[in-house]
Amino acid sequence: MTVLEGIIQDRLKGGPVPAAEVMALALYHPEAGYYRRPVGDVGLWGFQGADYYTALDLGPLLGEALAVRLEQVWQQLDRPDPFVVLEPGAGRGWLGRDLLQAAQGDFAQALRYLHRDDNPAAAAMAAEALAPHLASGRAELVAESRILEPFKGAILSNELFDALPAQPWRWDGEQWLYEALGPDGPAWLPGEPGEATAWFTAQAEGGLETGDGAPWCPGLPGLVRNLAGSLKAGLFLTIDYGETAARLLDKGADLRRYKGHEVDGKWWEDLGQADLTADVDFTRLGLLLEGAGLTGATHLSLSRWIRAHAPLARWEGEWQALETVARLKRMENLLQLTLPTMMGERFRVLEAWAGYGA
Ligand SMILES: C[S@@+](CC[C@H](N)C(=O)[O-])C[C@H]1O[C@@H](n2cnc3c(N)ncnc32)[C@H](O)[C@@H]1O
Repeated sequence: MTVLEGIIQDRLKGGPVPAAEVMALALYHPEAGYYRRPVGDVGLWGFQGADYYTALDLGPLLGEALAVRLEQVWQQLDRPDPFVVLEPGAGRGWLGRDLLQAAQGDFAQALRYLHRDDNPAAAAMAAEALAPHLASGRAELVAESRILEPFKGAILSNELFDALPAQPWRWDGEQWLYEALGPDGPAWLPGEPGEATAWFTAQAEGGLETGDGAPWCPGLPGLVRNLAGSLKAGLFLTIDYGETAARLLDKGADLRRYKGHEVDGKWWEDLGQADLTADVDFTRLGLLLEGAGLTGATHLSLSRWIRAHAPLARWEGEWQALETVARLKRMENLLQLTLPTMMGERFRVLEAWAGYGA
C-alpha cells in the first residue's frame, strides 16, 4: 500500500472523503503528492512527457508572444525599471526562459522574472533552464511563502488554476450532490447547500437542468487575494483551460486524470502518480480579481488572443530565413496554439489590470 492509499484508508474510517480532499492529497501531500515528489523521481512524471504536455512543450512561440504583450504593458506603465514578472505555478521555468530570451532592448534590461513554485522536481529543472538568467540576476526562484513587496509589472501563469484542488458538484433534478470516495469507490452523495451551490444556481442560464454541475475551487479566493496584493500596477494574465461558469455547468464538468498521455475521469486511481485537473471557472476568477481591486477582467480563447497580440507578420518574415525543418516546427507550434481542436479554443487567456485602466 502506498503512503497515500494508507492515508485514504484511514480517512475512510470517518466516512466518505470528498473528491477535493483526495485531489489535495494526490497533488500536494508533502512527500507523496504528484507536485511535491522529490527531484530523484522526476523521470516518472508529467513534465517529462509521461503524462501530459503543456503549451511550453510545443515550442517558444507562447513566450515570444508574451514578450511582445508585456513590452506593451511596460510602455503603458511608463517603462518602469525593474519591470517584475511573477509566475506562480511556473513549473520548469520554460515560459520564463522563453520570455527572457525573446525580450529585447531597454525592455529586456528592465525585465526581472520571478519563478514561484514549491514543486521540488520542477524547480530543479527551472534552475537549469534559467541558469544564465539566474546568474545575471534577471531571474530568481522565490518560495511560495515569501511575501513580495508590491511591484510594477505583471503576474503571469500557465495552467496554475486548473491544478488547484476542486470539488465537483452535480444537480440531480431535485438536490445538489457532491462527489466523494467511499469504501466501494467513487459516489455522488447529497451535500449541504452552501457557497458553491448558490454560485452554480445563480450562474445556470435558463435554470438548472438534471446533470448540470462543475468543480468548485475553495482555494481560489485566497490565492487571488495573495497574488493581487503583490501587483501595484500592471497586468494579470493567466492561460488555462476552462469556460464561463454557465458553460461549465452545462457540460457537467468533472475532474480529469492525466496519465501516460491518456485522459479519463478516474481521479481516485494512482493517487500521487497521475495528474489531476479541474476546468477553470473564468467567470468566477474574473469576479474575484475585480473584488481584489483589479479592473477590466476579460477572457478570450487562446486562438483569438494569439491573433490579437502575437507579431504574426514579423514572425512570417523571420521564419523565411530559417531552414525548412526549423520553419516547419515554428508553423506547427503556431497551429497547435491556434487550431480549435488543439489548444486554440480549449484554452482561454484572462487579462485584468492593477492600478491602471484597461
Ligand atoms: C499543471 S502544472 C503547470 C506548470 C507550468 N506552468 C507549465 O505550464 O508547464 C501546475 C503547477 O502549479 C504549481 N502550484 C500549485 N499551486 C501553486 C501556488 N499556490 N503557487 C505556486 N505554484 C503552485 C504546482 O506545484 C505545479 O508545478
